[in-house]
Amino acid sequence: MIFYFTATGNCLAVARELDSDLHSIPQELKKEGPLVYEAETVGIVAPTYSGLMPRIVRRFLKRAEFRADYFYIVMTYGMNCSVAEREAVAYGEHVGVRVDFAATVKMVDNWLFIFDMNEQTAMDKQIPQQTAVLKERIARREKGFREPDAQQEAAFAAVSQRNCRWPEMTDGTQITVRADRCVGCGVCSRVCPVGNFYVGEDKKAHRDFETCEFCLACAHNCPSRAITLSVQDKNPEARFRNPDVKLADIVAANCVRGK
Ligand SMILES: Cc1cc2nc3c(=O)[nH]c(=O)nc-3n(C[C@H](O)[C@H](O)[C@H](O)COP(=O)(O)O)c2cc1C
Repeated sequence: MIFYFTATGNCLAVARELDSDLHSIPQELKKEGPLVYEAETVGIVAPTYSGLMPRIVRRFLKRAEFRADYFYIVMTYGMNCSVAEREAVAYGEHVGVRVDFAATVKMVDNWLFIFDMNEQTAMDKQIPQQTAVLKERIARREKGFREPDAQQEAAFAAVSQRNCRWPEMTDGTQITVRADRCVGCGVCSRVCPVGNFYVGEDKKAHRDFETCEFCLACAHNCPSRAITLSVQDKNPEARFRNPDVKLADIVAANCVRGK
């Protein structure tokens, strides 16, 4: 049994390789009452955001109860996972979830600020090889996690301030809708895991940013490239979705509004 969160499909693609019993975290969080899960093996697959698990994943871990013999967390990341494994285990401990094993998988970095998606997708990050090794490690029920080295600690120190200020970046950067490009298709409102977007009477997308996860599902999945950052992103025309994942998969995973 795997619970996953994804904005651009990397985590869903990895989760599919690991198990067939998949559950989307935004959909689970929609349920009322206690969230209690029982299975021999339970896994979480989530992206790394500034070295940590996304807030929505942390909310889920805090609320849920897991009855499992073996519990693992896999974090996908793009360039530097920094302290992700250690902090995932520590957060589990903090909310009473025993994490037996934590690991990371390097994939396309969907962070539009710094990376050009065309350059990212051109890199060979040996994803199938990494996933195959991960599968074996989980099959033999490996335990533990990798402690970050000094360089990874330094990378975390450099980005960790941002977490304090979600949904706005430290410098005030926000996600914005370009009205000149928006065609009011509503894809953003269906891929947003916290239901921030809606299409107004003016047939344009609007948002209420207070609860934004900054996952960038809106920006990457917008067919008109109408969603961007309030600062120039690296390549405003280049967006990413994992090639094995369809828009419909992201909608099924993340839509928390009526379809
Ligand atoms: C807000 C945000 C913060 C991120 N922080 C990191 C990071 O600290 N290190 C890293 O290597 N990748 C980082 N990334 C990249 C994602 O972790 C990576 O692309 C992930 O595989 C996306 O998973 P998804 O396609 O399932 O959404 C960040 C992405 C976002 C949107």
